[in-house]
Amino acid sequence: MSAAVRTKRSIYMEWAKLHAHAKFNLATSGIMGVALDEFPFEMKGFEVTAAGGYGYEPLQERLARHTGAGEECVVAATGTSMANHLAMAAVLEAGDEVLIEQPVYGPLLEVAEYLEARVKRIPRRFESGFGLDPAEIAKAVTRETRLIVLSNFHNPSGALVSAETLRAVGEMAQRAGVHVLVDEVYLEMLFDQAAPFCFAIGETMAGAEDNPFIVTSSLTKGYGLSGLRCGWILAAPALAKRMWELNDLYGAVAAHPAEQMSVMAFDHLDKFRERARTLLNANRPILDAFLDARSDLECFRPPAGTVVFPRLTPGDPEKFFALLREKYETSVVPGHFFEMPRHFRIGIGGDTAGLRAGLERLSVALDEFSGRRAA
Ligand SMILES: Cc1ncc(COP(=O)(O)O)c(C=O)c1O
Repeated sequence: MSAAVRTKRSIYMEWAKLHAHAKFNLATSGIMGVALDEFPFEMKGFEVTAAGGYGYEPLQERLARHTGAGEECVVAATGTSMANHLAMAAVLEAGDEVLIEQPVYGPLLEVAEYLEARVKRIPRRFESGFGLDPAEIAKAVTRETRLIVLSNFHNPSGALVSAETLRAVGEMAQRAGVHVLVDEVYLEMLFDQAAPFCFAIGETMAGAEDNPFIVTSSLTKGYGLSGLRCGWILAAPALAKRMWELNDLYGAVAAHPAEQMSVMAFDHLDKFRERARTLLNANRPILDAFLDARSDLECFRPPAGTVVFPRLTPGDPEKFFALLREKYETSVVPGHFFEMPRHFRIGIGGDTAGLRAGLERLSVALDEFSGRRAA
């Protein structure tokens, strides 16, 4: 794809904001939102405004501790969304080549297009469990390549990229002088210190100064704290500084109430982790039972996380999504938003009763669609 497709908008985000809602919503990808009465709000010392500067020190300290990166490598950002934008904009000039996984979370592609980068794709194939092949990526890298863009877990499939694969990609990128941006917003859901967080992998390979990895993440998906907009970027110190400077173009100061609430969230992260783990322990068996019963769906089943991306075997998928939405008041994310129109994404991070009801409706709709049940 070239700069000719520059659209300055995200078709997926528009759909998510305007059309994803339904009585039975299986379209959201994160853990359900934390309500105010569940939040450990501490009024003492709370302020509306703070003196400006590059990062709110108490939050910088929490982000560094949480990620294990040095504070000089941590850039606070407005959600993973802004983190992704800053990371790509700091590395890419118009006309630079960027390799982006396919299928991909729409805005990752759309930001690169907005920056007028030349986009090449790295296939993640259904047939191979949406895995990544470092040798295939190495072959796609040219002298023009500046950046490789991946997600871990992968959105939409939920596939986990192993530490071994990340190391192989990182070493190849380092040799080629290319950065690797990994959106790890779903990786927080492994709730495991030993998860393949790639910034630490890069540090063991190259030290902080030459780390080829750039990481983006937030408290949104794994903890149900989207409203805090608590995102971050991890990058080698010189690159991190460029991102702070670039961020000056977008905002004078951060929303200080959100910064302070993010500090409170980090100080009680175990509570949110436990909440998410309990919810997923209840919800995953319901998803498994649904998938076990559906011979009309082919599905790669990821080891953890909140999303799956099954493939519909019979019929016209768009007709099926219309039936599901209109007659059964249930939403999933149609696969065309991920360039795989026969697939759809189901999210299981919602409340358990809602998930059960939504999957029951999905089953009845599938039966009707495949003629197993009278319309
Ligand atoms: C891969 C990926 N990155 C980023 C985001 C947005 O994250 P945030 O809410 O932290 O901006 C999403 C949301 O769906 C996502 O799937």
